[in-house]
Amino acid sequence: MVAQIIDGKKISAEIKQEVAEEVKNLKKSGIQPGLATILVGDDPASHIYVKNKVKDCNEVGIYSEKIVLPKETTEGELISIIEELNVRNDIDGILVQLPLPSHIDEFEVIRAINPEKDVDGFHPINQGLMLIGKEALYPCTPAGIIEMLKRYNIEISGKNAVVIGRSNIVGKPAAVLLLKENATVTICHSRTKDLSEFTKNADILVVAVGRPKMITGDIIKEGAVVIDVGINRVDDKIVGDVDFDSASEVASYITPVPGGVGLVTRAMLLKNTLIAAKRRA
Ligand code: GUN
Repeated sequence: MVAQIIDGKKISAEIKQEVAEEVKNLKKSGIQPGLATILVGDDPASHIYVKNKVKDCNEVGIYSEKIVLPKETTEGELISIIEELNVRNDIDGILVQLPLPSHIDEFEVIRAINPEKDVDGFHPINQGLMLIGKEALYPCTPAGIIEMLKRYNIEISGKNAVVIGRSNIVGKPAAVLLLKENATVTICHSRTKDLSEFTKNADILVVAVGRPKMITGDIIKEGAVVIDVGINRVDDKIVGDVDFDSASEVASYITPVPGGVGLVTRAMLLKNTLIAAKRRA
């Protein structure tokens, strides 16, 4: 089998087009969605991520405000800035780029964001609402994964979905959203014994571990749908957590890296900002 590629660029373009259309309509009624991004310190990768988010906002007509703070910023100072944004009428979404410098408690910072403006979907209120299947702002990468599956008409209900990785940002919420779509879900992680026993039974395999090319074709079920969340820099090239060449020989569908989940994650942030703005309107 030669896998069909799930084209993140195409899906991202579709989502952006849909968001742009809705933003245009909202503007007619006097509302422009707004996103504030906060960056603390000088991590080069984070600067690139935030720059891309600002560019994406411009493309779809969302107002964006980029706040760059020195790495010495205290937790209290950061939370004060968030509290100001929480009550501003022109800001619908607040995104604090992670990771934060080690002297700042990320949990306390996320908790300070008004849950209705938490477009990352990281606030415990949003995570809790998601867990019990209620409407909320869902984390962008897991929501993007579901979006990719649906836009390729890939059946989720009744399928064995295996998620490798249990982070609060990707693994755990991806498992929750797959369960919501009626998959039978298994979460594997660094302490899982005999990983291949699980991966070989996965109809849908989501890999979010941050280890380059860790999952190879020989441990993937014939015809599986493989979603690669990894973004690893190896010899100045970006590679995923899945060994694309061997995996694409056995999978039915596969997401490339780059050009897969990452682009759709970015588009989902715009969609969340639009959702937050519409709710406020
Ligand atoms: N750092 C890496 N991924 C993310 C993300 O999705 N949101 C934020 N805020 N920071 C990140």
